[in-house]
Amino acid sequence: MSGHFGTDGVRGRVGTAPMTVDFALRLASAAARVLAPGGGRVLIGKDTRLSGYMFESALEAGFVASGVDVMLIGPLPTPGIAYMTQRLGCSFGVVISASHNLYEDNGIKFFDATGSKLSDRVEQEIEALLNSPVVTQESQHLGRAVRIDRSRAQYQEFCMSTIPADMNLKGFKIVIDCANGAGYKVAPRVLTDLGAEIVPIGCSPNGRNINDGCGSTSPELLQLTVPGVRAQVGLALDGDGDRVVMVDELGRCVDGDQLLYILAMARHGAGELKGPVVGTVMSNLGLEHAFAERGIAFLRAQVGDRNVLATLNEANATLGGETSGHILCLDKTTTGDGLISALQVLANPAECAGAKAFRPTIRTGHHASGRRGGRASQGTGAHRTASLGYRAGDPGDGRGFRRGFGKKGRQRYRSGCRGHIRRQCSLIPSRGLQLRGFAANLRRLSRRANARRLAMRRPMVAGNWKMHGSQALNRALLAELEGDIRPDWPIDVVVFPPYVYLADAVRVLEEARIMVGAQDVCAESGGAFTGQVGAAMLKDVGCSYVIVGHSERRRWYHEDDALVSRKFAAALAGGLTPVLCVGETLEEREAKQTEAVVGRQVDAVIAMHGAGAFAQAVLAYEPVWAIGTGRTASPEQAQAVHAFLRGRIAAHDAKMAGHLRILYGGSVKAGNAAELFAMPDVDGGLVGGASLSADEFRQICAAAAVRH
Ligand code: 13P
Repeated sequence: MSGHFGTDGVRGRVGTAPMTVDFALRLASAAARVLAPGGGRVLIGKDTRLSGYMFESALEAGFVASGVDVMLIGPLPTPGIAYMTQRLGCSFGVVISASHNLYEDNGIKFFDATGSKLSDRVEQEIEALLNSPVVTQESQHLGRAVRIDRSRAQYQEFCMSTIPADMNLKGFKIVIDCANGAGYKVAPRVLTDLGAEIVPIGCSPNGRNINDGCGSTSPELLQLTVPGVRAQVGLALDGDGDRVVMVDELGRCVDGDQLLYILAMARHGAGELKGPVVGTVMSNLGLEHAFAERGIAFLRAQVGDRNVLATLNEANATLGGETSGHILCLDKTTTGDGLISALQVLANPAECAGAKAFRPTIRTGHHASGRRGGRASQGTGAHRTASLGYRAGDPGDGRGFRRGFGKKGRQRYRSGCRGHIRRQCSLIPSRGLQLRGFAANLRRLSRRANARRLAMRRPMVAGNWKMHGSQALNRALLAELEGDIRPDWPIDVVVFPPYVYLADAVRVLEEARIMVGAQDVCAESGGAFTGQVGAAMLKDVGCSYVIVGHSERRRWYHEDDALVSRKFAAALAGGLTPVLCVGETLEEREAKQTEAVVGRQVDAVIAMHGAGAFAQAVLAYEPVWAIGTGRTASPEQAQAVHAFLRGRIAAHDAKMAGHLRILYGGSVKAGNAAELFAMPDVDGGLVGGASLSADEFRQICAAAAVRH
């Protein structure tokens, strides 16, 4: 394909040609002339990247100016836009997305009226008009634009129609990673409606975080989270939702080749496999061997889903896909659809339990042309390894090059891709590994493990309001929270308003399941201590918890470990549950003193009152450098300190340490809560700024509620 169209439409870095506003306008004008010459209707959808707004407006202007009516559906997976193009009877559809690339890139691709990608010929016709002036019709011939919102529900219905009507996922715990991309609403919704308990990660797009450390091209977090939350399976879409990779209950990645095998075997077993299965020159050789053993024909296309599609059409076949997880089930839909592919897999647990894992032991990713080595950017994380050391100029270099190394197995494939060389070594299938994600015995085991964990530590979300609000604002916030926090969520929720509003909060929340705590307490039990408030008084007005040793009190009011320990004891003596805060400053972290500092802060309490005091307490790790700064500890950083703290207390009493809730605090938000709470030793959050927004706080509570 020459010119601006690549293997999947036009793509590039935003702000540089061709991803500029004026190009989008010209592209819309040219596309309108080719695809809807007499006027018509176009559907425009997009993923979640920031530049989507800009390209949406430019395309809308170009189409309307050409006399084409525009329907805008906002973020929806690419295959959803293809489906809705047909369903709404549009002349063609447009997707604004750069698929699995980071947010700095964007792209524009087209579907025809049947929801299929454009042929090379049609793309060339559009290309030929790109340099002609943008058409502006006279007023009476201009198109109109409308925004439609029912599309998500209609696409959802369509996804459901591709699986058996009686399929349900009750009893399954599934981690879903939507890459902070186009599937962030619809995919969790579909799985929830099927009865699954879901743990969402990568479902909080902010315009800048699409595919950033999450999604099908970075499944590492998913691989950690699935076993971490004792889920049976995980699935990761890419930013525009046309790819999927899955993770089994042990955190092992199941790539596109393995998913293709599962789907082929299910269809083969049911006598529904039509024609050969189509992979690419990059597909694992183990896959080819396994199909051969079962008498299933297998063809290899060049890399790229349009090549897989072309080969499927030539062979009159319906099932094909790429190692990356771009799978085509033409018996269900017209284009690669990550969510629908995952649903087909979930609908066939028997094939999952029996599927072999074709694990390439060496895989290299993209390598800058002409350079040795480079960064592995495409592999499924667990299998990334070092470069093989080939150069772009090596003999045999070129598209579709394939060379054998031995009869049984090792082969090397290469293909050129946008100035890069992609290599992969495929080995014969390893026979020992099984994907047992859905086996009934594991489901039982997992349920038992979850029940044990739930009995041990109930998650808690605490909102530290600090010195914010007023009587009116607090009441409004509490009224919203009261309705927002669902009574069936298996978590404890506590708010910590300033002293003067405590009694009022207790009254407002009388019927609610939200508890109230104070932000500080006097170390003395009573007497001539002007300005102080004692634990008994807090208990008297209905408080249940009290924060002690918050870093802001340690810093601004010079509270030392000894005073904090006395406050801790005063809280217990007054019948309150102390929430002991510990945490290190940035300088201390950089000096690698984190464990020394938090260890000292905990030891001070143990020294004064014994480790047994923690039986009635909550511990909160609040790194000072993350409080109110927008910098959050990564889930792994938080987990490391939480595990250290639990170990410190376990050294005195292992059983009690197992029951102790350790909260994380420091810029917890709706967007990062699920990832933090997915860590095995993070039992909830102590939330500052985000607890002042009912919506954010509710989402954080929801993330804690799905933890178990
Ligand atoms: P932020 O969530 O605003 O960072 O505050 C954390 C905190 O200090 C909670 O006690």
